[in-house]
Amino acid sequence: MRITDTSDMWWKNAVIYSLDVETFQDGSGDGVGDFAGLARRIDYLAELGVTCLWLMPFYPSPDEDDGYDITDYYGVDPRLGTLGDFVEVTRTAHDRGMRVIVDLVLNHTSDEHPWFKESRKSTDNPYRDWYVWRDTDPGDTSDKVVFPDEEDSIWEKDDKTGEWYLHNFYRFQPDLNIANPAVREEIARIIGFWTQLGVDGFRVDAVPFILETTGYTGEEKKELGDPMDFLRETCALLRRRTGDGILLGEVNVPYEDQYEFFGAERGDGLALQFDFIGMQKIYLAMARHDARPIVESLEKRASFPLARQTQWANFLRNHDELTLDKLTDSERREVFDAFGPQENMQVYDRGLKRRLPPMLDGDPRRIRMAYSLLFSLPGTPSIFYGEEIGMGENLAEEGRMAVRTPMQWTSEEGAGFSNAPRRRWVAPFPDGGYAPDHVNVADQRPDPESLYGFVRTLIFLHRRHPELGWAPTEVVDVGDPAVLVLAARGEDAIVVTVHNLSPEGRTVSVSVPRVEPDSRLVDLWEQEPLPVDPKKRFEVQLDGYGCRWFRIQSQADTRLY
Ligand code: GLC
Repeated sequence: MRITDTSDMWWKNAVIYSLDVETFQDGSGDGVGDFAGLARRIDYLAELGVTCLWLMPFYPSPDEDDGYDITDYYGVDPRLGTLGDFVEVTRTAHDRGMRVIVDLVLNHTSDEHPWFKESRKSTDNPYRDWYVWRDTDPGDTSDKVVFPDEEDSIWEKDDKTGEWYLHNFYRFQPDLNIANPAVREEIARIIGFWTQLGVDGFRVDAVPFILETTGYTGEEKKELGDPMDFLRETCALLRRRTGDGILLGEVNVPYEDQYEFFGAERGDGLALQFDFIGMQKIYLAMARHDARPIVESLEKRASFPLARQTQWANFLRNHDELTLDKLTDSERREVFDAFGPQENMQVYDRGLKRRLPPMLDGDPRRIRMAYSLLFSLPGTPSIFYGEEIGMGENLAEEGRMAVRTPMQWTSEEGAGFSNAPRRRWVAPFPDGGYAPDHVNVADQRPDPESLYGFVRTLIFLHRRHPELGWAPTEVVDVGDPAVLVLAARGEDAIVVTVHNLSPEGRTVSVSVPRVEPDSRLVDLWEQEPLPVDPKKRFEVQLDGYGCRWFRIQSQADTRLY
């Protein structure tokens, strides 16, 4: 790997940390997290080692979908601060070597957005065509809704004009019409605005829905042309404006379709995409104590070879339901039975409302193995705030809100998140064993044996080994389905990671093909060279749910640890 590559294409071995400003740190004492509070926590994030912050929507919003319903793309929700506060956060993050990406919600606005208020006034309003309207009854579309507990159609009849508008998500989120050149120009302005304020890219919400034109008229479709061209133009615009700005896409579709969103072998589409299928297979593999589902998804994924500048983003959890929509019904049932058997743990018939540690019964070995696995997969790891300390969920909260509880900094009342009285907190904390008394930053940060210490080391190791983001990765067969051995083959070194998905201890014999002469084997957790000849098989002992990382390094690799 050339050093110019690893620093130019920063997203290929970034460590992403997503947070909602509203629940991270209250700086004003009103019970709601804000930019002033976040600014004070940037050093915490720098110390943890993350290299890229992803800020969930912070724009003015009626907050019916936790900010994913926007009323002004050029502002900051006044509860969270001002544009000035936003710039302070971005500037401080940059100063500490971190990039900042922000959520970009283009599929829809809030129905309270001034554009939609105009649009619904009359059929000849200048904003009418900013949204997707039709004058005939669209019939039953209940099979297309994203939130089956809450919606039964993707069209809503609007009394004022007696026509229907498209809303792929909630009825209060009318879809924008990207066939309209005025909308496309506005999108370019929004991107221009935030990049000018210093952002390094965007996490693009619901990408397939933005480009989906099923509800469009023939004329609209003609006007738009190939929706992928629009995506490519948007990516090109961002690159022109910023040089190295990226779009990270939320694209939960089969791998062959994701490949198109990357821009296939040209790589002129999204620079990064979340691997939703891989994530689901990890849970299936954990439920079965069998690594084969992970191997299958890695092999399938690798059959669509990415262009150099594009990359997978791996994750175990995000702010939504833990969706299991790409598993078969029986596979999903296995995961439900293992990790969320009660009805109040499930949502939309396809997902779980829980965070990882409670799903794994708080077993520290298994939790660590899961994060170690995440960081060892080829790609860019992305974590959701609080994962580094093992926060749990609050199942009493509605749907996806269960995992959006405030960050737990200390064991005090308000958890160091806010000193406002309890009744003003933006959301409650989990109780029981996952309450701030038991899970918080202050207790874990000084303790190298804590989960925080473990995750921090993982981040360090990931950053230290660009092979994990760059190098072709092979699955090494050790004849034991419970054990996953991956070898990321760089020019000077091969990074070998070994994970035991079973609760019983295992010993495996690892043979990595094509090792340079006079290489040495370094145990990356023990930080010392092992007296093993890496050209031969080497034995790896694993505890139940154990994990080990090694580097087979040639003479040309001068890394010491
Ligand atoms: C995405 C977001 C989700 C939101 C939806 C509609 O899926 O991740 O939180 O509700 O889009 O904007």
